[in-house]
Amino acid sequence: MHINFFTKEDEYIEAGIKLIADICSKTKKNPSVALSGGSTPKTLYSALSTSNKIPFDKIDFWQVDERYVKKTNQNSNYRLIEQTLLSGDKKPNSFHNFNTSLPLDKCLENYKKDLENNLHEDFDLIILGIGPDGHTASLFPNSDALKETKNPVAHTITDRFNVKDRLTLTFPPLLKSKNILILINGAEKMDTLNELTQGNKSTEDFPAKKLIEHPNLEIFYLH
Ligand code: 6PG
Repeated sequence: MHINFFTKEDEYIEAGIKLIADICSKTKKNPSVALSGGSTPKTLYSALSTSNKIPFDKIDFWQVDERYVKKTNQNSNYRLIEQTLLSGDKKPNSFHNFNTSLPLDKCLENYKKDLENNLHEDFDLIILGIGPDGHTASLFPNSDALKETKNPVAHTITDRFNVKDRLTLTFPPLLKSKNILILINGAEKMDTLNELTQGNKSTEDFPAKKLIEHPNLEIFYLH
């Protein structure tokens, strides 16, 4: 685990682009990158949309998780990615997303099939955020989905954050990813960072803890 502290946003962004470029340079196939939603990744996604330092047109982008709302809803992670990462002239090799226009179970099943049919190796990179409660992706404390060992996707429910019904990757694909980047922004998340890296909460109570043992975990903290 490497914790990288930043006080300047441009250095944080530059380091993020460099990390992604390095990871993409290490694979012969099309790199696969899974994207979280929330607010933290917006600045990096926007910078990636115009960067000439990454092979944008070769990358297969995927979603880490989604809120079960229409793509046009302001809470949609698809909409967030469309308005940041995909807002420029560059087009990725592909962007695989949860089709929330379908009934929830069908949406989940379709994404699972998409992973089975089109993700031919483990993800090269998964970009994650973390909530103050230690949730990551849409894997919330004490959720049954934390125990999932086979199904790569799950439907989870939260009553603490906007949009109750969530669709998410489970820990198996997250932990099998070749690289993980956790983005944490703001002084208000210093406690979250400290609990993640030094605290003694269980992974049940603070799910992101499960990622700490990952061999290629980078944490970027901008404050
Ligand atoms: C989501 C994200 C979620 C996010 C955390 C942190 O759909 O909301 O995937 O896991 O990373 O909730 O959110 P912020 O970046 O907004 O603090």
